[in-house]
Amino acid sequence: MSEKRRILLQLDTDAHPSVFDAVVATDAGAEVLLRHGNVEPADVRDLVYGLMFTRGGEDLARSAVFVGGGDVAAADIVFDQVRDAFFGPVRVSVMADPSGANTTAAAAVHLAQQHIDLATSSVAVLAATGPVGRRVARLLLRCGARTFVTSRSLERATALVDQLPTESASGKAEPVETASPDQLRNLIAGVDAVVAAGTTGVCLLPKSVWQTASLKLMVDLNAVPPLGIEGIQADDRAARYGDTIAYGALGVGRLKMKIHKAAIRRLFERNDQVFDVDALFELAATLDE
Ligand SMILES: NC(=O)c1ccc[n+]([C@@H]2O[C@H](COP(=O)([O-])OP(=O)(O)OC[C@H]3O[C@@H](n4cnc5c(N)ncnc54)[C@H](OP(=O)(O)O)[C@@H]3O)[C@@H](O)[C@H]2O)c1
Repeated sequence: MSEKRRILLQLDTDAHPSVFDAVVATDAGAEVLLRHGNVEPADVRDLVYGLMFTRGGEDLARSAVFVGGGDVAAADIVFDQVRDAFFGPVRVSVMADPSGANTTAAAAVHLAQQHIDLATSSVAVLAATGPVGRRVARLLLRCGARTFVTSRSLERATALVDQLPTESASGKAEPVETASPDQLRNLIAGVDAVVAAGTTGVCLLPKSVWQTASLKLMVDLNAVPPLGIEGIQADDRAARYGDTIAYGALGVGRLKMKIHKAAIRRLFERNDQVFDVDALFELAATLDE
């Protein structure tokens, strides 16, 4: 058994590599953190080479990469560059969770499917145009849900639908504008579930709207008051409001943290693991809640 310490190379597109990600990594077993901020795609190869070429054989499993940052599109490019640096068996395990978007989406959709059959359900993702909402929509489609992605702008919602992957998706995505109360009310009246993925501190779904609908499930991802869904609690976990089950952002956050820590632990079990949003979603299914 190797005595080498578990090293995590933290590549962050922000100026200051995320302290949150560093603490979670340490709590999950990373022993040494090599933290780099302002990482540009052109920097990645040499940084990864430095990690890969210093260890070989089974010791490569004790080196891993974590990609983060507030700019999710930029982090996705860095994530691609990391994998491009690998060749043959010369590789390390890698995880991407910019802005916590992948772990949050994996947790939200995993929890949703504990209560409804997504393959036969319609789900509205409110404010789906942000990093978290995009990934929620992607996973819902993968699970076969009829997925309505909303934005205050029909143009942005339509652009999102065009960007969502179709090859691995059995569901169907439809864009919906929710700029007016009537547009929102009409949408909510016709769906089985809603995931509120709006920015922090903005209420997207008033109580008066969901109370008069027949939703089976509501999931809110905004923990900062006012909450994304009015009238529920941030720490709700499968709370019941009449016939509707609700999760607040802290209720989702508990599983999100479990997924994040479990993925970090798995990074150090082998040298060939890749944790993108799909792999994190699959990992969620293996965890006890
Ligand atoms: N629970 C957790 O563990 C966890 C982890 C990470 C993030 N989060 C939460 O997940 C949520 C989504 O995160 P994100 O980074 O994807 O969000 P984001 O990019 O900040 O915002 C998502 C969308 O919200 C809409 N929006 C922005 N300002 C608005 C306003 N004033 N009124 C109505 N809509 C507005 C925008 O959509 P349009 O302009 O297209 O309408 C935007 O694309 C946040 O509340 C965040 O705090 C939770």
